[in-house]
Amino acid sequence: MTSNPYQDDRGNKDRSITRPAATHMGDPVKPGGSAVRVEGENPFLIGHEMTGGYGTGADILHACTIAVEPGEIAVIVGPNGAGKSTAMKAVFGMLNLRDGHVLLDGEDISALSPQARVGKGMGFVPQTSNIFTSLTVEENLEMGAFIRRDDISPTMEQVYTLFPILKDKRHQAAGELSGGQRQQVAVGRALMTQPKVLMLDEPTAGVSPIVMDELFDRIIEVARTGIPILMVEQNARQALEIADKGYVLVQGRNAYTGTGKELLADPDVRKSFLGG
Ligand SMILES: Nc1ncnc2c1ncn2[C@@H]1O[C@H](COP(=O)(O)OP(=O)(O)OP(=O)(O)O)[C@@H](O)[C@H]1O
Ligand SMILES: [Mg+2]
Repeated sequence: MTSNPYQDDRGNKDRSITRPAATHMGDPVKPGGSAVRVEGENPFLIGHEMTGGYGTGADILHACTIAVEPGEIAVIVGPNGAGKSTAMKAVFGMLNLRDGHVLLDGEDISALSPQARVGKGMGFVPQTSNIFTSLTVEENLEMGAFIRRDDISPTMEQVYTLFPILKDKRHQAAGELSGGQRQQVAVGRALMTQPKVLMLDEPTAGVSPIVMDELFDRIIEVARTGIPILMVEQNARQALEIADKGYVLVQGRNAYTGTGKELLADPDVRKSFLGG
């Protein structure tokens, strides 16, 4: 046995970085009381048939559904402007939905602010501006833990174990780090809240293929500690290879949904979104 939750890559048994998460939820219930049944699925987090846009502008999302099940990695892919980030923001509460709802562990959280959702256990790493560049690495991690009143040092050690380079650079301004290291800071910051579910919008944006592979390995390690991961990825093929579930979004709609394997094998998906 090891005290490092990220070292042993067998199974999703170590949940020490998470708060206890329910493994089963009943049928989600709409505010009106009617049950929403999602056949064959048991999502821990779901944005269900979300419709809405920014402010008073036109709808960007059209009955768009994205979800992640306990212990799994779900990946959202699709062309630029498809609404991937918008769907993530909607799940995190940064958009006023005209229709649809968001359920976390069976609870309808559609009306909650983003901060309240963090309090409920959601960790979100946005696509842009996801670190404080003028603060040190360690200060970024401390900021991540803003909602906590307990001792954050064990979690910080776990983040440093996951991303050892961050420990070496902990007193350096985060803005001085490389792209891949900055993404590690962003993910580490989100982990500092001890999330029950982690949402990542393009965690490998702008990094080399080798760094991308390393980041994916770390993300898999996080998932294996029991934190379900809902992730948008531009590197569609590689991301679907590690995905339990994949969503292809096009123009704010679900175009294809399946296991990562199914989508990788689908001739239409291959031709249109994976370069053949
Ligand atoms: N803050 C905003 N206000 C108004 N419209 C926005 C805003 N952010 C995005 N949009 C619009 O919403 C649509 C979807 O954008 P979104 O960023 O969700 O796409 P995406 O799939 O994440 O694209 P990318 O792959 O480039 O990150 C686009 O037409 C975009 O112009
Ligand atoms: Mg985006």
